[in-house]
Amino acid sequence: MKEYDFVVIGSGIAGLSFALKAAKRGSVAVITKRKGSDTNTAWAQGGIACVTSDEDSFELHVRDTLEAGAGLCNEAVVRTIVTEGPERIRELAELGLQFDEREISGHRELDLGKEGGHSKRRVLHVRDATGKEIEQTLLRELARQPYAELLENRMAVDLITASKLGFATEDRCLGAYVLDEKTGEVETIRSDRVVLATGGCGKVYLYTTNPDIATGDGVAMAWRAGVEIANMEFVQFHPTCLFHPEAKSFLISEAVRGEGGILRNDRGEDFLKRYDPRGSLAPRDIVARAIDAEIKRAGAKCAFLDITHEPPEFIRDRFPHIYQTCLRFGIDISKQAIPVVPAAHYQCGGIKTDVNGATSLPGLYAIGEVACTGMHGANRLASNSLLEGLVVAHRAAAAAAQGRPAKQKIPLREWQSGNVQNVDELVVIYHNWDEIRRLMWDYVGIVRTDKRLQRASARLRNLQREIREFYWNFKVSVDLLELRNLAAVAALIVDSALCRKESRGLHFTLDYPEANDRQFKHDIVLSRS
Ligand code: SIN
Repeated sequence: MKEYDFVVIGSGIAGLSFALKAAKRGSVAVITKRKGSDTNTAWAQGGIACVTSDEDSFELHVRDTLEAGAGLCNEAVVRTIVTEGPERIRELAELGLQFDEREISGHRELDLGKEGGHSKRRVLHVRDATGKEIEQTLLRELARQPYAELLENRMAVDLITASKLGFATEDRCLGAYVLDEKTGEVETIRSDRVVLATGGCGKVYLYTTNPDIATGDGVAMAWRAGVEIANMEFVQFHPTCLFHPEAKSFLISEAVRGEGGILRNDRGEDFLKRYDPRGSLAPRDIVARAIDAEIKRAGAKCAFLDITHEPPEFIRDRFPHIYQTCLRFGIDISKQAIPVVPAAHYQCGGIKTDVNGATSLPGLYAIGEVACTGMHGANRLASNSLLEGLVVAHRAAAAAAQGRPAKQKIPLREWQSGNVQNVDELVVIYHNWDEIRRLMWDYVGIVRTDKRLQRASARLRNLQREIREFYWNFKVSVDLLELRNLAAVAALIVDSALCRKESRGLHFTLDYPEANDRQFKHDIVLSRS
């Protein structure tokens, strides 16, 4: 049995930032499903929203965040994260990260991008591959830490808690069971401070901008451990995912619209103004719904994002990754509009935490997309998530270091396999996986109804029963564990959506098409315990 002072599950911006700080205070293991860099963070294009210019202010950033969040943000949390941002950005720069700059009247200053819902230019970026640069910077720094270990190709199966071991007096997190994908063995890892930084759950939908690892593992594990989960009905659909038969999950950054890109329908019309005076730069919930409506109205396959009016050299320099990737699919974005559709992008709800990442289970922290701090409310403002990950990771590292250790050293049980057979019918796993993703897309997407949600709920219960059977009767594998997690998270999204009897932010239902400002639930909190 291995033991660490801190165990971090997930290696994106939040997990690595936490690990770097915690490694100054004790031993740290960073557990990650594939390679260290296989994270949502590494795919982030837009950048980090942070107040750095004289034309901007904390007040404006707070106001934009609250407005996007449609009445559900926790204002104190937003203020903390926005005002602590510049200090955390400075630390990133000290680690060697160079954000793009531009020359203005003889001196260099940060080149700030603009995205939907922001009243000012405030997005720090490294061209259109900001996340990749951040990921590499943090991984490089982690490798220098003598007390930190990066454990790749390991997937956490479940949290170990005192109550699961039969110690009912004080429930707390004691560690995690972790599958070593190379050996197929499940290891028991003990720690009094476990941090979930596993990212989101885009793969629960048929179309997503997320990488394959985004299977909702953290939320599912926390749910099974009886931890409170909040606001899972708020799934953000990014308006512009590349529409091409061979392109899987390729995002066209909102920064393209920030630099003047215009959304057009199949007749070439700039249709967004009909839906919102801010046009193509309205917040994401509005833009995604408008595209969905326009596509359905015309029976079209996609909308088009047009930046051809900008000089080709500017496009190639500002968006090299998008330009090259589209070119590989035969689309020269300096000459033709980009075919786009909305796709699942970001989980605004998650494990309920305070602004220090503390969950309802002592010893367990959650940071980054997996958590619901109250920063994003009913709709996340673009590029606020990397900022939240950085700031809350820093606070969580301080809080965890001071956190109360377990009163007694409870003996942990080794993992027990119910049955050592390998799953003989992989096809069943893949079939169930596809079924979940399709039913979530069809019944629990951008526009919802109670009837569709109830249909989804009934199907998911059946699938969960089948998956439970698999889980107990066969040797665990990554595919099986991911399927089990996806099913759990899908059910949480549906259950939360059924509880919200109004339309607000990202949750839009034809049965209650308006926000109910007089009587509404601030947070939908679900817990198994
Ligand atoms: C984008 O580049 O459009 C994504 C930014 C974000 O989701 O915050």
